[in-house]
Amino acid sequence: MGSTSVTEMLGGWERGARALALLDAARERGYLTFLSEPRTAEEVAEFAGYSAGEVLDALVAQGIAVRVDGKYQLEGQLAGALSAGAPVDFAAQIERAALLARQVGDVVRTGASAVTAGESVVIARSVALTPNDAARGVVTQILDAVPEMRDAITDGHLLDVGSGVGGFVLTTASLLPGLRATSLELVPEVAAVAVERAKALGVTDRVDIRAMDARDFEALTPYDAVFWAQPFFPEQTRAATLAMIRRSLRPGGILLIQQLDAEPTDDDARAAFTLPRLVARAQGLPFARTLDELVAEIEAAGFALVRTLDIDLGRIALLRRPEESREG
Ligand SMILES: C[S@@+](CC[C@H](N)C(=O)[O-])C[C@H]1O[C@@H](n2cnc3c(N)ncnc32)[C@H](O)[C@@H]1O
Repeated sequence: MGSTSVTEMLGGWERGARALALLDAARERGYLTFLSEPRTAEEVAEFAGYSAGEVLDALVAQGIAVRVDGKYQLEGQLAGALSAGAPVDFAAQIERAALLARQVGDVVRTGASAVTAGESVVIARSVALTPNDAARGVVTQILDAVPEMRDAITDGHLLDVGSGVGGFVLTTASLLPGLRATSLELVPEVAAVAVERAKALGVTDRVDIRAMDARDFEALTPYDAVFWAQPFFPEQTRAATLAMIRRSLRPGGILLIQQLDAEPTDDDARAAFTLPRLVARAQGLPFARTLDELVAEIEAAGFALVRTLDIDLGRIALLRRPEESREG
């Protein structure tokens, strides 16, 4: 930070923390939904139950809302990100940002960061695709980049390991009517959200969502492909999870993984990156493991690399269970 004074440094930290507190409270209190349409100050006051002029001024000053012709409304990009047609749940991403700030405090105070079931739902929502046209476009892009996956699951069986709220599996099921899938999710409250979403999409006959530890899954029929949400699996569960995946796949079946977080190259971003890493490592997660390291880990579990690829959404590795397997 060079010659920046401590007062200036504190000012920078405060500005970010206060702006996030404002945004997250506005989300929690329903402002972000209410201001999706232009509203007068009087309408906002009636909605809030108090005179909201100062809150509105703060929202405008922070670029969260704009004032046009005397009415208040969400800023345009934010309105788009929060709209029902957006491919991801940006409100959950705001909530997760505030959660992460709290978790940094937990780790510093106690050395650990426990996650409640409700917080697991927030995390799962924040990373999931919302099964809609925009998300189907995202999945189409992935399947175009990995045609082996499309071929395997178009009329095949997908095992979705660490389903979260089912962003990938449900969007893909809504795109491929011949796909059948089993989804494994450890946290029952998270699995319950996935089940509700599956019902809303009308795919419960094809997507079987199970609240269980993936390590305990016994496949009755071999699967053609697996999608493993590897960043969310703590170190001590990974070898057993990979052994289960290998047992569940047919010989020649494919395993797709994504590298979600990567160590940034520029200094400012690297400094910021230490905080989510602090939290993830306290939870035993392999934060920002490189794709090469991930491939080595999975190869050691008896898989063969097909290829790695970079797409707009990040880095992906495609592996296979070898055709010639000695054991089960
Ligand atoms: C956040 S989701 C990932 C995104 C998800 N695949 C999607 O498409 O939206 C990853 C999930 O893996 C779950 N998980 C972690 N360890 C697990 C285990 N041993 N068995 C089953 N699920 C597990 C976590 O609870 C978490 O909800």
